[in-house]
Order: sequence, then structure tokens, then C-alpha cells
Amino acid sequence: MNILEVNNLSKSFELHILNGKKIEALKNINFNLKEGEIIGLTGKSGSGKSSLMKCIYRTYLSSSGQIIYQSADGPVDLAAADDHRVISLRKTEITYCSQFLSVIPRVTAVDVVCENLFRIEKDKDAAREKARQMLEQLGLPAELWDAFPVTFSGGEQQRINIARAIIAPPRFLLIDEPTASLDQRTKDVVIDMILELKNNGTSVLCISHDEYTLQRLCDRRIDLKFGEIVEEELAVE
Ligand SMILES: Nc1ncnc2c1ncn2[C@@H]1O[C@H](COP(=O)(O)OP(=O)(O)OP(=O)(O)O)[C@@H](O)[C@H]1O
Ligand SMILES: [Mg+2]
Repeated sequence: MNILEVNNLSKSFELHILNGKKIEALKNINFNLKEGEIIGLTGKSGSGKSSLMKCIYRTYLSSSGQIIYQSADGPVDLAAADDHRVISLRKTEITYCSQFLSVIPRVTAVDVVCENLFRIEKDKDAAREKARQMLEQLGLPAELWDAFPVTFSGGEQQRINIARAIIAPPRFLLIDEPTASLDQRTKDVVIDMILELKNNGTSVLCISHDEYTLQRLCDRRIDLKFGEIVEEELAVE
């Protein structure tokens, strides 16, 4: 079954400061994502990868086309659904992990990681224990667990961001460059964590420039060029 069907999706931006010049970031995009599948989204900088992900997560409103998502309660067109429906899906089913952590002031690393988990795990100590285990697996030094992530390094913040996105396994995960600033060992830990989610049924769309990550993670790749799909290929076994 397809969890996502993107039909004739286009997105353009009108730049008012340039007398209404139009940028066509996505042109007539068509693809499906199967339940439990991991698709790698590739393409040069500026090819439209993040725009596509943001249209699906509804950070951006699409200009035309459909994004049919099979939610637990039936199909929803994410290009047209009302904001309440989108917000409720974000709380329960769809998680977006951006490349950078948007830091929340004066919340400890462990509590940042627990944000989504606190919604389903009412025992806060149990939730925090799970977060600590995850941060330990990701190699984040124990002295940072109760510190504020605002001063953390890029790779440390990225690990907090990933832990936060997957500690409560989503049905559908959108993840932008999960391994970009990580060393090889941590990269493998993150890849293993995402593969474990997949084994438990999560469907994943993952932007990456990293050949190793794409090879290990993806069932299929979609390559974008100037806002269009140029190639769709199965991963080489
Ligand atoms: N909010 C916006 N307003 C105007 N133009 C935008 C906006 N977001 C993206 N664009 C434009 O759309 C095009 C695609 O950008 P996008 O961020 O999707 O590329 P990308 O493939 O994710 O690149 P990168 O690999 O550098 O992250 C670019 O020309 C970009 O300038
Ligand atoms: Mg991008």
C-alpha cells in the first residue's frame, strides 16, 4: 500500500522584491512512497529537495497538485487539508527532522528529546530514562544530557534533533540530511536507528548528499534537477 502519493505537484515562489519574479522550485512532481519504504531524495543544491519536503510537511503550501497521505484514519490531501488536520497529524503521525536544531532556551537536552514522547508517555522519569539511553547510543557525553543545547556543537545538536524526531516512532518520517555532520561511528548508529524504525513499519523520505548513507538506508532514490524528477532508481544491492 502507498502511504504517500504525490500527483502533479508544483511549487513556485513569487519574489516581490524582484518585481514579482517567479521561481519554479518544483515542476509537476509525481511519485509514490510505499508503507515501510525508505526513499532517498537527492540532487544538487537548489534542486528543490527541501521545498518538496516542506510541501509534504505543509510548511509550504503547494501551488498545485495533490499530496495524498494515507493516515491511520484514511486518506488526506496534505496540499489542501485544513490547518487543524495538519497540526493533528504532526502530533500523532508525521515527524519532520530538519537539518538544524531550532534551539529552545533553557530546556535541557534530555527534555528537548522527550518533547514528543511526553505526549504518549505520562511517566516523565521513564521517558527521560529512554532519552538518556538514546543519547548514550548516539555517543553524546553524559555531562551534556542535562545541559542546554544552545551551546552544543553542530554534530551534538544534530544528534539531539534526530533523537527528538524518532524517540516516539512516527508513522511517516521526513528527515533532511540526518548524517551530514556526524563521524562514521555515529553515522552508523543513526542509520541503524532509522532502519529499526523501518522494520517497525515507519515510512521514510530522507534527503542526503552522502553516498554511504544512501547506500545503507534507501530502498529507492529520487533525483531532482531544477525542480523536476530526473531519475528514479532502485538501490543497488
Ligand atoms: N521560501 C522561499 N522563498 C523563495 N524561494 C525559495 C524559498 N524556498 C526555496 N526557494 C528557492 O527554491 C529553490 C529550491 O530550493 P530548496 O531549498 O528546495 O533546494 P535544496 O535542493 O533543498 O538545496 P540544498 O541542497 O542547498 O538544501 C531555490 O532556487 C531556492 O532559492
Ligand atoms: Mg535543502
